[in-house]
Amino acid sequence: MAFELVPGLEGVPIAESGVSFVDGQAGKLEYRGFDVETLAENSTFEETSLLLLHGKLPTHSELEAFKREMVGYRKLKYRIIDLIKCLPETGHPMDALQAAAAATGMFYPRRRAMDATTRRQACYRLIAKLPTIVAAFERLRKGDDHISPNPNLSHAGNFFWMLSGKEPDPAHEHILDVALILHADHTMNASTFAGRVVGSTLADPYCVVSSALGALSGPLHGGANEDAILLFRKIGKPENAKNVVGEMIGRKEKLPGFGHRVYKTTDPRAKILKRYAEQLTKASGSPNYEIALEVEKLGIAHYGEKGIWPNVDFYAGIVYSELGIPTECFTPIFAMARVSGWLAHWLEQLENNRIFRPTQQYTGKHGQAYIPLSDRK
Ligand code: CMC
Repeated sequence: MAFELVPGLEGVPIAESGVSFVDGQAGKLEYRGFDVETLAENSTFEETSLLLLHGKLPTHSELEAFKREMVGYRKLKYRIIDLIKCLPETGHPMDALQAAAAATGMFYPRRRAMDATTRRQACYRLIAKLPTIVAAFERLRKGDDHISPNPNLSHAGNFFWMLSGKEPDPAHEHILDVALILHADHTMNASTFAGRVVGSTLADPYCVVSSALGALSGPLHGGANEDAILLFRKIGKPENAKNVVGEMIGRKEKLPGFGHRVYKTTDPRAKILKRYAEQLTKASGSPNYEIALEVEKLGIAHYGEKGIWPNVDFYAGIVYSELGIPTECFTPIFAMARVSGWLAHWLEQLENNRIFRPTQQYTGKHGQAYIPLSDRK
């Protein structure tokens, strides 16, 4: 039977899923039926992670138990710290994160028989450890000592602590927490799909997450938040935006942080991050927000009719930069959030698993004659 080839699988469902929902025309995103804007206003990353993983909001005691368990998992095995020390300091933190996440699985080698408890522990462990890996690589590659997690701080607050050794500013802690909520899941995106494909082979969750990390690192996916801030920095001041963006349009170069396979209007997550970008740059005096506004105006004027609008990555970089986070850690922060979604999809995949094994349209040759090496020209 011949099937139609759909490049990029656009519009092709690959699973039934109840984890999240996007209405690309209305610019709406829900996790387990809850509007993401409501969660950003009222929830925490910890609570949102439980919602994604288990499908319902936790009770007070469930949430407290989860936080306690997560705190217990935050520390890294000393050999993982040694591994991170051996990685090239010039390497990208996403690659370090992928390597360390995969290696972490070697300490918990339960490749096959995974009962519900082991699966749950693996999920919590991965969510808890990713920020520790990111912060450890960032410090160690700069020649600073690794800072142990602080059990008294929230997931977001502890990340600041492990990066700087200082208690976080509560306002900054809240903004990072919101950013983590906003990035925690997004239906069948490339990294989630990669994770589900690997999960469908019954590979362990550390392999699932490391594969998803590889997919997220690309500039068409999570890497765009770094590219967007690099563009704003290159532009330097709002007056330069017209020339730089005009040249990019002329070269048919994609604007980072613009466009989406599903959204045909502004991404709801970008609207929330835009407010924080404005608030933070007003306080700091950075020109990046004004520059971004110019780029946004020019981008929408040129591409809006085609359905190309700002996505989550457009303002995220400005927010992280204002929070004092190093540029190469922007995509790892996306990963620290999305790991909850990847694992929720992994659990869902296993409930009704069948290995992914799509097909192809063969365009190669048939029946070639083998010419011995000595006779080939
Ligand atoms: N700037 C200019 N033109 C664009 C852009 C952009 N950012 N995005 C898409 N287009 C054009 C593209 O050139 C193509 O034009 P034409 O039909 O004339 O050839 C058309 O729009 C369709 O683009 P596509 O690349 O085929 O669309 P897609 O659905 O395959 O890709 C995308 C979606 C997000 C990869 C793409 O919009 C893109 O590359 N954006 C820039 C990178 C980016 O911001 N990525 C983050 C995505 S959101 C968060 C995440 O998932 O990580």
